[in-house]
Amino acid sequence: MPERPRVLLLCGGPSAEHDVSLASARSLLAATGDRVAWLPRVISRRGHWLDAHDSLSRLTRTTADDRGTTGETGPRLDLAALADVDAVFPLLHGPYGEDGRLQGALEVLGVPYVGSSVLASAVGMDKLAMKALFREAELPQVAYRGVTRHRWGTQREAVDAELDGLGWPAFVKPANLGSSIGIARVADRSERDAAIEEAFTHDRRVIVEAAASGARELEVAVLGLDDPRTSVVGEIHTEAAFYDYAAKYTPGAASLDVPADVPAPVADACRAYARRAFQAIDGAGLARVDLFWQPERDALWVNEINTMPGFTETSMFPRLWAATGLAYPDLALHLIELARTAR
Ligand SMILES: Nc1ncnc2c1ncn2[C@@H]1O[C@H](COP(=O)(O)OP(=O)(O)O)[C@@H](O)[C@H]1O
Ligand SMILES: [Mg+2]
Repeated sequence: MPERPRVLLLCGGPSAEHDVSLASARSLLAATGDRVAWLPRVISRRGHWLDAHDSLSRLTRTTADDRGTTGETGPRLDLAALADVDAVFPLLHGPYGEDGRLQGALEVLGVPYVGSSVLASAVGMDKLAMKALFREAELPQVAYRGVTRHRWGTQREAVDAELDGLGWPAFVKPANLGSSIGIARVADRSERDAAIEEAFTHDRRVIVEAAASGARELEVAVLGLDDPRTSVVGEIHTEAAFYDYAAKYTPGAASLDVPADVPAPVADACRAYARRAFQAIDGAGLARVDLFWQPERDALWVNEINTMPGFTETSMFPRLWAATGLAYPDLALHLIELARTAR
């Protein structure tokens, strides 16, 4: 790899985590600018690529948002931006940037990129596909059922009976989304039905899960390719009923505890499950695996894997690595190196 690699940093993008992505990009540029020749490009909320100049001004403005103001005439894929780079860092969260679509375009163009491939990205975003692969890998998970909009409309009684078997409370989620959008905790059938209808406005496939009541939310960072490393365990604390959109993105509404105060055997099990979850989806580069631990029953379940976790210097993923001995700038450089060897 060249001493100072030229890396196209893609950020923003058409998901609810647009601003989180910009914050991650700002952090990365500030911390590693002397070691990486970054070429930052902001993707608008509607999927248009801003030019280099507008991208920089968007990134140096810290407050405003770009809804409908800039970039809506830019290309939907700027081939010129992709020419002559050593790698791409698709620092985008959620649909479009984290679900395999952008990864597919980069594959077509033959450009090395940070993170998971098309398959692992898509599986990581689709909760039903993810859970099927986790089950195949014998990872413990809460009980769940998938339902399509079609089946909900045509076989309601059978579906109701299946879902009742999950007990109460339950969680209803669109299969593909993230950021807790469209997710509801429901206490009875009428709440569940309303939440399912709402979830169907986001996706034609919905998942209903048994609640891991009273569980603590633990997270592990994974780094590498076929033989990945795992970090210490972290914990999310929130006063909210669950880790919903507001708790995730309102400053102060949640706090991170690194390392988590959990018994060593629990931490070891979390790390082992995180590694297995990464391998189950054939992850590459990085991922954060989220788990539920119920101390009274000593039950540990894998909740989900995120293939492009939040990446500001104070986000969980970099904090977990810092606590494991890998500082933020070194973490970024290592990911770029992995991109060059991944495929
Ligand atoms: N089965 C469950 N039991 C308890 N809490 C849950 C369950 N599923 C989700 N949650 C809560 O909802 C949050 C978001 O759910 P998650 O599946 O992680 O979706 P997202 O991909 O949007 O982050 C979790 O962090 C947790 O607080
Ligand atoms: Mg989550």
